[in-house]
Amino acid sequence: MRSEANYIVEQVDKHHDWFGKSLPMIASENLISPLAREMLVSDFHDRYAEGLPGDRYYHGNIYVDKVEIRATELAKKLFKCEYADTRPISGTVANIGILKALGKHGDSITHTALSDGAHISTAKFGAVGIRGLVSHTYPFDTHEMNINVDAAKRTLLEVKPKIALFGRSVFLFPAPIAELRDTLEEVGCAVWYDGAHVLGLIAGGKFQDPLREGAHVISGSTHKTFPGPQHGIVIANPKDDKMARRLSSGIFPGVTSNHHLHAMAALGISLAEHIEFGADYSDQIIRNAQALGQALHERGIKVLCEHKGFTASHALALDVEEHGGGALGSQLLEDSNIIANMNMLPRDTKPRSPSGIRLGSQELTRLGMKESHMSEVAELIKRIIVDKEPTEKVKLDVINLKKDFSTIQYCFNEGHPAYERFKLV
Ligand SMILES: Cc1ncc(COP(=O)(O)O)c(C=O)c1O
Repeated sequence: MRSEANYIVEQVDKHHDWFGKSLPMIASENLISPLAREMLVSDFHDRYAEGLPGDRYYHGNIYVDKVEIRATELAKKLFKCEYADTRPISGTVANIGILKALGKHGDSITHTALSDGAHISTAKFGAVGIRGLVSHTYPFDTHEMNINVDAAKRTLLEVKPKIALFGRSVFLFPAPIAELRDTLEEVGCAVWYDGAHVLGLIAGGKFQDPLREGAHVISGSTHKTFPGPQHGIVIANPKDDKMARRLSSGIFPGVTSNHHLHAMAALGISLAEHIEFGADYSDQIIRNAQALGQALHERGIKVLCEHKGFTASHALALDVEEHGGGALGSQLLEDSNIIANMNMLPRDTKPRSPSGIRLGSQELTRLGMKESHMSEVAELIKRIIVDKEPTEKVKLDVINLKKDFSTIQYCFNEGHPAYERFKLV
């Protein structure tokens, strides 16, 4: 059996080697800092801590409690909110917990349609359906790649949902919560913002500020534009104490038992790092995404929303139908060591053969790339997608470009042993 274990270690080593030589551009991924990564292999990983600090069902949590209290304080500081829960073990779990807290079987919820970029966990056949909520989608303006505000007002007044949900996986522009605020207040619903993708940008003050625009609660993954561990978070300015209590019990005992203490410790460090570096990092992420959009556009690749500067976030949506579609395009990119995913565009109906490719700038930015490097990346993508140059040939140039970008930035690096140990080579 040892050889089986060796096999697995070998594959992970190969993966590391491959990613060290690749351009990672999946919009939902990121690199955790070396110091935060060290927490993931700590003894916290091996322990249980059900409940809340000071009110546990297990012993041995003296230091776990201190970490959880501090991580929660850091989250409240970073997001300028009254309530934070660092226990959800992923964005999906945070979402299910919120659904449990705010809705019950038969209640109505409004949200963006899957085909317009919403996430499966907020779709009828995801967690919304599991919770037994009746789902209504917002009318969507595909030219603007955003909710149609006037039509959405009508939907909200007609449906009178218990929960109005905003947020998407192809999240190019801020959700129009501020524009819908009066209507949302008239309806009196709970306003929930799924910020999984844009959490880091929100924290950096560069995208939108949902809690100040009318949202009561935000859920998020902590590993996309927020460059932390694979984990989740709930942050809120609850309407009242009852909502706060329900949010807390929605996560535990609602949808978690143990809450992955190693990841929570890593999250604490990532929160501290984002307080220090988040504004600069988010600013550069958005600049890079816009520069990449422009550079791709100049090279004959259709990038959605040219009239709006392509994006206001980390993400870009490419329409590559005329170049063979998203499945072929993303495969050719992978063959050339550029990692991205095929993506449905609003007109698509077949998830396995979509017209689009989604790109994110957050990980390349984390490695120190700036606007000028985006032209080099765009040129490589064009050679693959448009010119159909042999992938082996382009791959050599990808590897060459990546050589100068192996150090994780925007974090507490220097002077810590973890930095050397986990430095990408
Ligand atoms: C909008 C949105 N919500 C929730 C999730 C789920 O997050 P996680 O993968 O952390 O469960 C995603 C994942 O990509 C997402 O895009």
